[in-house]
Amino acid sequence: MNAPLTIFITGATGGFGQAFAQRFAALDCRFILHGRDAARLETLAADIETTYGRPVYRLIADLRDPAALQAALDALPDDWRTIDLLLNNAGLALGLEGAQKADLEDWTTMIAVNNTALVTISHFVLPLMVARGRGHIINIASTAGNYPYPGGNVYCASKAFVKQFSLALRADLHGTNIRVTNLEPGMAETNFSVLRFKGDTDKAANVYKGMTPLSGKDVAEAAFWVFSQPAHVNINRMEIMPVAQSFGPLPVARDTP
Ligand SMILES: NC(=O)c1ccc[n+]([C@@H]2O[C@H](COP(=O)([O-])OP(=O)(O)OC[C@H]3O[C@@H](n4cnc5c(N)ncnc54)[C@H](OP(=O)(O)O)[C@@H]3O)[C@@H](O)[C@H]2O)c1
Repeated sequence: MNAPLTIFITGATGGFGQAFAQRFAALDCRFILHGRDAARLETLAADIETTYGRPVYRLIADLRDPAALQAALDALPDDWRTIDLLLNNAGLALGLEGAQKADLEDWTTMIAVNNTALVTISHFVLPLMVARGRGHIINIASTAGNYPYPGGNVYCASKAFVKQFSLALRADLHGTNIRVTNLEPGMAETNFSVLRFKGDTDKAANVYKGMTPLSGKDVAEAAFWVFSQPAHVNINRMEIMPVAQSFGPLPVARDTP
């Protein structure tokens, strides 16, 4: 009998993260679930264990703290290191101010979580996958990494970094059998906008007013499909938007009205 798959999800306490855990629990698997809030992670982990019968290793780390993250990774027991799928999902947007007015700490936090932590976790997992000649990394980027928008500044840049890192990993992993996918969702209703607007729930709700955004479930279904492809198939990138979201013209600042 094959051993259960080991699936590592970062930011498991968030909207996408929970949906990933619930969707992938359909497989014969066990989870490494990461969160920064031990109590909220425990609630999720206990639910996955009791509702779905899938074992969970709790990996707790604030991703703004590189030393804490490295220590949490190094503490992963040997028998949990057979990682088949890494869903690099934890991430955040902070603020929607123009670059000239933005808070520098918001910028450095986004880079720390969306980029530095993502590459640190990848750096830990990659040799483990290569040694076994199997594995799949799905990086959760964003349409923001493809199309800049006003106030997106460092968030857009951080997700463009994730896209290019994913594609460069494909190049480096040539011949290793490891799969890499950059998943690029558009507007999805989770805690994302509440965090972006620093707890202003009215402002956050306004983002999704009068339209149907993606749900965590939609994004989890896409990730599940990507992972379910035959072992010789690699989905390099997948961009997914709500139907209500599309493209606009490039604005032109004119001298005269
Ligand atoms: N929602 C969207 O419209 C959208 C669209 C495209 C891409 N994305 C990307 O999808 C991913 C998941 O976002 P989501 O929509 O599910 O938002 P979410 O509900 O806010 O979840 C974000 C997750 O990242 C974790 N996280 C944030 N800062 C952290 C830190 N310093 N240390 C450890 N964990 C931290 C959060 O932990 P806590 O639960 O403790 O806050 C949470 O688990 C992110 O990378 C986001 O950029 C979202």
